[in-house]
Amino acid sequence: MSHQNDFPEGFLWGAATASFQIEGATTADGRGRSIWDTFAETPGKVLGGDTGDPADDHYHRYAEDVALMRRLNLGAYRFSIAWPRILPEGSGTVNQAGLDFYNRLVDTLLEAGIQPWATLYHWDLPQPLEDAGGWPARDTAYRFRDYAQVVAESLGDRVVNWMTINEPWCSAFLGYHNGHHAPGHHDDAAALAAAHHLLLGHGLAADAIRSTGHPSRVGLAHNQAVIRPHGPSAADARSARRADGVRNRIFTDPLLKGVYPADVLEDLASISDFSFIADKDLSITSTPLDFLGVNYYSPEFVAASAKGLDPALVSGEGGAWLGADPEEVHVSQGLPVTHMGWEIDPTGMYDVLLRLAGESGGIDLYVTENGCAFEDTVTEDGRVHDTDRLDYYEGHLRAAKEAIHAGVPLRGYFAWSLLDNFEWAWGYSRRFGIVHVDYDTQVRTVKDSGDWYSRLAATGRFPER
Ligand code: FCB
Repeated sequence: MSHQNDFPEGFLWGAATASFQIEGATTADGRGRSIWDTFAETPGKVLGGDTGDPADDHYHRYAEDVALMRRLNLGAYRFSIAWPRILPEGSGTVNQAGLDFYNRLVDTLLEAGIQPWATLYHWDLPQPLEDAGGWPARDTAYRFRDYAQVVAESLGDRVVNWMTINEPWCSAFLGYHNGHHAPGHHDDAAALAAAHHLLLGHGLAADAIRSTGHPSRVGLAHNQAVIRPHGPSAADARSARRADGVRNRIFTDPLLKGVYPADVLEDLASISDFSFIADKDLSITSTPLDFLGVNYYSPEFVAASAKGLDPALVSGEGGAWLGADPEEVHVSQGLPVTHMGWEIDPTGMYDVLLRLAGESGGIDLYVTENGCAFEDTVTEDGRVHDTDRLDYYEGHLRAAKEAIHAGVPLRGYFAWSLLDNFEWAWGYSRRFGIVHVDYDTQVRTVKDSGDWYSRLAATGRFPER
């Protein structure tokens, strides 16, 4: 009797991490400083004063971690490369010891039969480049191209799948608009310039990777937001259009169509004249992608005004996003939330995949991040019974399965995250791993969700629970 699998043959099962969140060893072997070192050392920026050390000490424990991935039946591992390990000053002299680390990691993955999926930029900009203007400065895009070239020449004979930038929205807007992330600035015009230069850097880096002549597939990891109007009014629909513009289309249109959306330029005209867009930039930003990575966690509901709404449902202040009117707000739907306070709604996963499949012209899609934080405890039996996380994964993977049945060319899925890690401004207080990390002893414990995921990865079928 043959069993019908839930996922197609060859579907790629992976897990994801990022350099600053797991590596630790921030001063080892010539690593330079990044904006996250500086930000984390600035009082009040990261919860509990947590810093990038020790994180998961993955820099020293990578072999043990790869062995763990193998036990979890992972077919692929998405990691990021720390630019300040490769070019401590951001440009110029290459630090061979930094390249050596990623070479060892890649070799160890390949020996374990796990595909390395490398992200070039997951937010750890070398501090000297921030001092020279950061992403609002055009030159940073060219320095990113040079860095991409160095890395691709070193690893490109073994790494095929590359993601240039992780979540350009977070880098640009959390970094330069609301200051929640490094470098912690509050300058809307700078945030828009940063967004453009991240896209430009993406396109330049894609060309640099391809210029090495090694077989490659280039994409990026985009956190397309699922924006929904709170109510049926025309005013809420207008807010949803505006939020979608500055959150999604300001990235996807330059990437996929080589244009900026006219309504977005108009909505943001009082903030920027977009004179940072030079001739030919849009042909660089829209250099063809081999695949698109989609990071999804939770949908966002918006309303034109908080007036008349239950105050318990209104999250944060008016003027909720860059360019929002002073009255426009985010609204919660009263659904269950994770430890991040993010509402759990797998229909958002389905919607984002359908939409991006439609907009990206048939290229392969991968979920490059999806997962959740919950307050885990290691119980007396030495295990972590994270039923809430397991439910989250099952719900979202069932939505992914439905999307595939609806025709979405979804080829793989990466759980965020392999390990509990440094969750940016939340420090170590938020645990996203399918593997628990004890930060005092560095002991790793596979959670129930990790066990479940490993069985799914082995069979392509939802395991019995
Ligand atoms: C994403 C980031 C990732 C992680 C998850 C929870 O925005 O790319 O590093 O922090 O959120």
